[in-house]
Amino acid sequence: MEKSTDMRRREFVTISGRAGLTTLVASAVGINLGMVQVGRAAGNDKVTPFRFAILSDAHLFSQPDHKFDGFLADAVDEVMSMKPLPDFVVYGGDIAQNGRDDQLQKGRRILSKLSMPIHYIPGEHDWYLDMGAAWRGHFGSPTWSFDHKGVHFIGLNSILVRDFWTSAGLTPKQRMDVMEMLESPIAGPWGVREEQLEWLKKDVKNLRPDTPVVVFTHSPLWDYYPRWNFQTEDAPEVREILSKFDRVMSFHGHVHQTVYNKIGNLSSVGALSTSWPWPYPDVKLAYPEMRMNRSDPGNIKDGEGAQFIDLEKDFTGTMHYDPFGDMLTPAMKNGFAI
Ligand SMILES: [Fe+2]
Ligand SMILES: [Fe+2]
Repeated sequence: MEKSTDMRRREFVTISGRAGLTTLVASAVGINLGMVQVGRAAGNDKVTPFRFAILSDAHLFSQPDHKFDGFLADAVDEVMSMKPLPDFVVYGGDIAQNGRDDQLQKGRRILSKLSMPIHYIPGEHDWYLDMGAAWRGHFGSPTWSFDHKGVHFIGLNSILVRDFWTSAGLTPKQRMDVMEMLESPIAGPWGVREEQLEWLKKDVKNLRPDTPVVVFTHSPLWDYYPRWNFQTEDAPEVREILSKFDRVMSFHGHVHQTVYNKIGNLSSVGALSTSWPWPYPDVKLAYPEMRMNRSDPGNIKDGEGAQFIDLEKDFTGTMHYDPFGDMLTPAMKNGFAI
């Protein structure tokens, strides 16, 4: 069923700033705490309610005790402080900054403090030093699916580009350097590509249309801002394969910010990073009320952290997040009501 404005509930939430210096009514400063209906499946109850968490875009550097190490560790603590705990965590890509094995290892070590299963998809920063060899060694296949309490979860690698490095004679490090750029002149668009499209077709072939489906990619499954690869070139093909379902929820990393869109039966939600928030690109947002405004630029953790998704029996849910990444503002007070 289509989301409509009148289905949304807006809540006014009081946010207490660090050290009690400021107390802001969110609506007065434009912080989006809107509760947003992401969608509803028709028919009987399908889901045994549960919570999962998303962590994404830690961008860990090789130097010891880098501040992003602590930010990821704080987000892990935040997940472990939730009551009830999430059933599992999905990691949305870009654990590493430069694709180095020591960076991936560090991420794995920090994330090992989570007591629940973790499912990983890669980002471009994880992949292009060795074409995913180290990442696969740590985290396995980037393409996966599983069923949990009535929901079918899918992970896809959406950061695959055509070979631009062989003819140019680039070294692996040069290839990684090119892919690290937010706005790369030569890397070309990203996609999930033919092999994963074929896999996806087979994966969902025998599922009933009323099956609740959640799909994770690093880049959005719609053209948000192609200049920064806030897009997936073959997203239309992915959406076409998934169009047989009554409803699909899609979550992605890479954009380091909350952003929402709905295309046909697929709703798309962008995740906060644990490292830094990107600015919003200069485009008209389909759902501008989902913006995550940075209310305190003096707080380097404002606009990063974990997010938690509570799914209900009718395949609606809520995405909660802590806009200050410091647990002083309870995550459960902020977010999108789904
Ligand atoms: Fe990232
Ligand atoms: Fe990324």
